[in-house]
Formats: sequence, C-alpha cells, structure tokens
Amino acid sequence: MAQFVVEGGTRLTGTIFVHGSKNATLPILAATLLVEEPIVLKNCPRLRDVENMIRILVELGCIARWEGSTLYVDSSGAFGYTLSERLSKELRSSIFLLGSVLGRFKKAVATYPGGCEIGNRPIDLHLMGLRRLGAEIDEDGGYICCTGEKLLGAQVSLDYPSVGATENIMLLACMAEGETVIHNAAREPEIVDLQDFLCACGFRVSGAGSSEIVILGGTRGHGCSFTIMPDRIVAGTYLTAAAITGGEIALIGAMPEHMVSMLEKLQDAGAYIRKDGARIILKAPKRPSELLRLETQPYPGFPTDMQPQFFALCSVASGISVIVENVFENRFRHAQELIKMGGKNSVRGTMAIVRGVQRLHGAQVTAHDLRGGAALVLAALSAEGTTVISCAERIDRGYLQLEEALCSIGAKVTRKD
Ligand code: UD1
Repeated sequence: MAQFVVEGGTRLTGTIFVHGSKNATLPILAATLLVEEPIVLKNCPRLRDVENMIRILVELGCIARWEGSTLYVDSSGAFGYTLSERLSKELRSSIFLLGSVLGRFKKAVATYPGGCEIGNRPIDLHLMGLRRLGAEIDEDGGYICCTGEKLLGAQVSLDYPSVGATENIMLLACMAEGETVIHNAAREPEIVDLQDFLCACGFRVSGAGSSEIVILGGTRGHGCSFTIMPDRIVAGTYLTAAAITGGEIALIGAMPEHMVSMLEKLQDAGAYIRKDGARIILKAPKRPSELLRLETQPYPGFPTDMQPQFFALCSVASGISVIVENVFENRFRHAQELIKMGGKNSVRGTMAIVRGVQRLHGAQVTAHDLRGGAALVLAALSAEGTTVISCAERIDRGYLQLEEALCSIGAKVTRKD
C-alpha cells in the first residue's frame, strides 16, 4: 500500500506539462483489436489502468511495446476471445473490449464487472447496444457470453448518454455490415478522439461530439500512427491545485476548448485565467470564493471526474457552496475524509453543502477512489501541517508521477511504499 505524505501551506507556482488522456487511451487500445496491422500511439500515458488494458490485450495474443510515451501495438496475431477474470476485475474499462473482441472474432466471453468505489455502474446500455447490432448475449453465473455471426448496422437509442456504451457500440458497429446510428450518444472529447483514431485506421465514423454518431461498417481497417489527446481531468486537477493554494501556474499541452465548464467554475471561484497559445495560465486569489451551485452533468456540463477536486476547493472557500452529483450515486466519499482535515460539509443523497473554512489541517486520510484521492492531495496542499493519504495507488490510476509534477511547482509531497 502506498502513501502520499503532504506538507501543506506552500503557494504553487510554475509550469506543468499535461500528459495524454487515460480515458481516451483505454477505448483506443480496445479499438486496436479491430485492425490486423501495427498501430503507433503517441502521447500515451503509462498508467496502471493503461498497463492493465495492455496486459489483457497481450493475453489475447497482441504484441505491445513501449518507447518512452509511444506505444506500439500489433494485434495481427490475436487469437483469444475470453477476457481473463483476474485482469477484468482490476480494470472496469475492460468491458470496452466486448465490442471489439466480438467484432474481431464473432464471439467474446467476459466477466461481469460488478460495482466499484463510486457506484453500482451497470452495463445494461452496453449490452442493449451490442444486441441491437445482432449480438446474442447470454448472462450466466457472472459470465457474459456473446456471439455475433451476423452483425448488422442498426439504429441504437441510448436512454442515457453513457460514455462507455457509446464507445463500445462504435467499436462493434465498425465491424457490422451497413449503417449504425447512435442516438443520444455521449459527447465527451474522448469520444471524438476515438472517432479520429478509427478514421485514421480507415473506418467510416462521423458525428462524434454531437448526440448522433453515424458509423458505416464493414470496411477493413489498416495500421496508423495516432497522437492521444491531452488529459482534461489531469489539466483541471493541476489548475485546481494552484487555485486552492492561491498560486499561479501555466499548463502546457492542455486543450482549453475541452475544459470550458471547469474554467468557468474556476473563474467563479475568483481565479484569473488567460489562454496564451498552447498554454493556460491561472492566477488565484488568496482564498477562493464559494460556488453557489456546482452540478455534474454529461459533457459539455461540469465533469463528475472533477467534482471531488472542486469539493476540496469549496472546503476552503469564503462562503457556502452547493454541490450536486448527478452522474454517479456514490461519489462523495471524500467528504468524510475532508471532515477529518477540519472541513465542514454535510451530504444528503446526491447533494452536498460545503461550508468553507479559513484553513484545513493535516490528518490521516484514505483515498477511497481515484479522483476522491486527488481531491485529498489538493486539500492537503492547502492545509496547515502534514497529511498522510493512504491507498495512494488508487490515485496513480489516473496521474502520471503526480508527486513529481506537484513538487516541480513548489509542493512538498513524498511517496512512501
Ligand atoms: C466514463 C469515464 C469516467 C467518467 C464517466 C462519466 C472512462 C474509462 N471512464 O466512465 O472516468 O467518470 O465516463 O463521465 O472513460 N450507466 C448505466 N448503464 C450502462 C452504463 C452506464 O446505467 O450500461 C450509468 C452509470 O451507472 C452512471 C452513468 O450511466 O451513473 C454514467 O456512466 P458512463 O458514462 O457509462 O461512465 P463510464 O463510461 O463508465
């Protein structure tokens, strides 16, 4: 078990480079199975979730090799269609592989991913979409057995714009004959990145970024070289780190057009933000202002993956903030940990009332999930004294060398394994 030890109270200043997006990389890795030629992925973050996805691909017979942040994947020799239970349990996103394995081999066997730290996370929309394209799916004793001898394009309407379901359906639709239209599709930038990757491989996909995605399936894909988009949640986390410490930072490599709702909320909290070519510059006041209402929504609304970090920011704001979590049902576990640090908040169902305090103090806290853990790091940076955050390996799932990046702008963070 890893720990972060954070000595709080330093104002962060400096420049940080933003690495490639985890949530764009995972479905793109799944998509490499659709192509029987070598693929080169640049700006690929070497995170634990990414390594786990690669391990699953390797178990299926793919070859993968790193060179710095470039990943070479060759799935021409892939033969397996059963996703190992052990690795699937470690990585919920392995469910993305269902569409691509089924598309490639006409059959796929996976284990049901079950719940996770932030909620129940059902996969009914994924399965409904795959069935609409002609997959036959048996769910038996925790196993999902799919066959798809005759996959045909179809109209698929999602009851909710699920990111993962949209991506899974896009992947299978590339291999189904004819036209698929996904209605009420998720509009996240990572879906646009998946579309761009699929098009670079020669598949015919359009409309990503809007609620209607059209896939003309049945063509053979080819190898390509592709650069993964920057991670907007990592970028947002660093900006919030500067904001919570009254600091001033420049981010290199982030795409502000992916971050409109977050940047607006940071401005509402009193930060001055300027876009300067490839940089985003943030200057924060000594103490953030409260946020009258922060409500998570599917993109382009405020991202649920930034809610915990903003919860930490509101914990030291000059007034009372209201936070509503609409996407996941159990995503306030950081609230209790922040109370251990002197935070004042109360959570009822999907709503939290956060009363800002002048100063948090150091404490022993636990990272219950990835972004909740990141929120505790931010809180600790602004707190008086030393905070020890246990289960830090959960934070590693989404941030590459977080402590080094933060130390490079003046933070005092050390890791203990
Ligand atoms: C992705 C992101 C995650 C982010 C989330 C929402 C990846 C690897 N993960 O997760 O970081 O927090 O989008 O932006 O990209 N739902 C169903 N049935 C389904 C699928 C989803 O009811 O079949 C519900 C979920 O329980 C949840 C909501 O839909 O309440 C959103 O989930 P979804 O958009 O699918 O998130 P993920 O793709 O799992």
